[in-house]
Amino acid sequence: MNPVCGAGIVPLCIEMVPLLPADIPSVMEIERDSHLEPWTEESFARELKKLHSHILAARVRGRCPTIPGGSTRVDSEHGGWVVGYLVYWRVADEIQILNIAVHKAYRRQGIGRALLCQALRSALESGAESAVLEVRRSNNAARALYESLGFRQVGERPGYYGILKEPAILMELNIRDLFPALA
Ligand SMILES: CC(C)(COP(=O)(O)OP(=O)(O)OC[C@H]1O[C@@H](n2cnc3c(N)ncnc32)[C@H](O)[C@@H]1OP(=O)(O)O)[C@@H](O)C(=O)NCCC(=O)NCCS
Repeated sequence: MNPVCGAGIVPLCIEMVPLLPADIPSVMEIERDSHLEPWTEESFARELKKLHSHILAARVRGRCPTIPGGSTRVDSEHGGWVVGYLVYWRVADEIQILNIAVHKAYRRQGIGRALLCQALRSALESGAESAVLEVRRSNNAARALYESLGFRQVGERPGYYGILKEPAILMELNIRDLFPALA
């Protein structure tokens, strides 16, 4: 088991599953609270229809004492509630991470890392070699998360983000380095 993506890194009762169209309203709550330039509902709906696009949801199942409020909260009609998500595209032998966010109340519990680990493992198992992403230069939390998985900076795009014209840092990972046993 990879020490970074090993077992036991995510709270009990959370599973990583494909996002459903009915989850979009909960996703939008997290999205608006997480990004300076949030995606719209339509963007998520469009991604769900694209063959090369994958959206993983971190879903809490059942009554879960390790999750804030989870000992009393009752499941939604889909049997759980979404506390984070990851959108990525598979393009040739690469995956491109487009969006990741975790609900503010559930951060620093390993959910962001578990979403990435799941996506990277599936990508490697289906033949992908590398993963790429862009991140705001000031986004220390996200940069620390990516670096903890072995992503390294390979470039910078000046003035990439919105009205603040913040630079984007380009990061890349050779996925085999994360899961040598699977390579
Ligand atoms: C970035 C984000 C997805 C991380 O999700 P998370 O579930 O809190 O992350 P994890 O608990 O899996 O953290 C894994 C590691 O990332 C790093 N990390 C995460 N948040 C951090 C923070 N606020 N400060 C410093 N390091 C941080 C740490 O190395 C952490 O490991 P540790 O807790 O053992 O120290 C979350 O902060 C978020 O939703 N941010 C807003 C949206 C966003 O910025 N998305 C990225 C766009 S590129």
